[in-house]
Amino acid sequence: MQGEAFDKLNEVIAEIEATTIDSAEQLAAFRSRYLGSKNILKELMGAIRTIPNEQKKDYGQLINKAKTTAQEKFDNAQVAIEIAEDTKGNSDIDLSAPGEPIALGSRHPLSLTMNRIISIFQKIGFIVEEEREIEEDWYNFTAMNTPEDHPARDMQDTFYLRDDKNMLLRTHTSSVQSRVMTTQKPPIRIIAPGRVYRNETISARAHCQFHQVEGLYIDKDVSFADLKQTLLYYAREMYGPDARIRVRPSYFPFTEPSAEVDVYWGLKNETDYRITKGTGWLEIMGCGMVDPNVLKNCGIDPEVYTGFAFGMGIERQAMLQYRVNDIRWFFENDVRFLEQFEAEI
Ligand code: PHE
Repeated sequence: MQGEAFDKLNEVIAEIEATTIDSAEQLAAFRSRYLGSKNILKELMGAIRTIPNEQKKDYGQLINKAKTTAQEKFDNAQVAIEIAEDTKGNSDIDLSAPGEPIALGSRHPLSLTMNRIISIFQKIGFIVEEEREIEEDWYNFTAMNTPEDHPARDMQDTFYLRDDKNMLLRTHTSSVQSRVMTTQKPPIRIIAPGRVYRNETISARAHCQFHQVEGLYIDKDVSFADLKQTLLYYAREMYGPDARIRVRPSYFPFTEPSAEVDVYWGLKNETDYRITKGTGWLEIMGCGMVDPNVLKNCGIDPEVYTGFAFGMGIERQAMLQYRVNDIRWFFENDVRFLEQFEAEI
């Protein structure tokens, strides 16, 4: 390959290779000379007319090589100059330092406690049911053997929706019992976690919103012994193999007999004294055998089926578990409080 055009082209390639680009100005000059709209390579391409036919291919390939070399040189120099600009005057920045860690969110302590309770019952075959918080009176009260004039309605200060006494914020997760019993056939074995509302004065121990986990088991031949055994299993899973429970007779309109269950927590510190009122025993739930009237109200034959139910409070269990001495912490969304809890589960 010879001739004037070849020589000129090789010269230009050597020139491209030898050029140093250290500044934005040099970069701009390089671009206009080798890559711009009237660049020298285009000019040399025009000279292909003067090349003998058998050498045209080689000439074309050499032009292409020149173009790629110029483009690569330009790209590399551009990146290098950008980096140099970015770090100008910041020579003490360590570009190899690891980045800022991305903060993981955490779970709300009540969710952590509820999820633990749920998995304990799932292990023995209970299925999670979730239902509405805005509920009809019938499911919250009437179906649960608590008709309008029933004195037990006073036990639970209800938030009604405007003047419509038919719609309310559920006062307990027992409303899920009647929802499930009217739509499912026994055997029924469910747990229902969720938020409930009562018009109570807010204090360190009480709030107008709180959480419960309801349990319901209906089948043939379900007995009070089954209930006690289930709750003992729960207490041991939740509070350790030495956990003790105490079952005290009580009253609920929807269970007969009814009981309240305490678990022995002990008195290790100030928080324990406050929450257990100095006894070491923590009342965690109400329970009992489902009243035959409730089964009947929901279309289940009480001659064939029996069942037990329980409803446990979450806040006090979470307070003890995490040593929280005021229930209001759970609802204030103070990040300093919330970020102390785990991210998993
Ligand atoms: N619903 C009752 C309460 O909120 C608890 C309970 C549930 C009692 C199921 C018995 C059976 O206090």
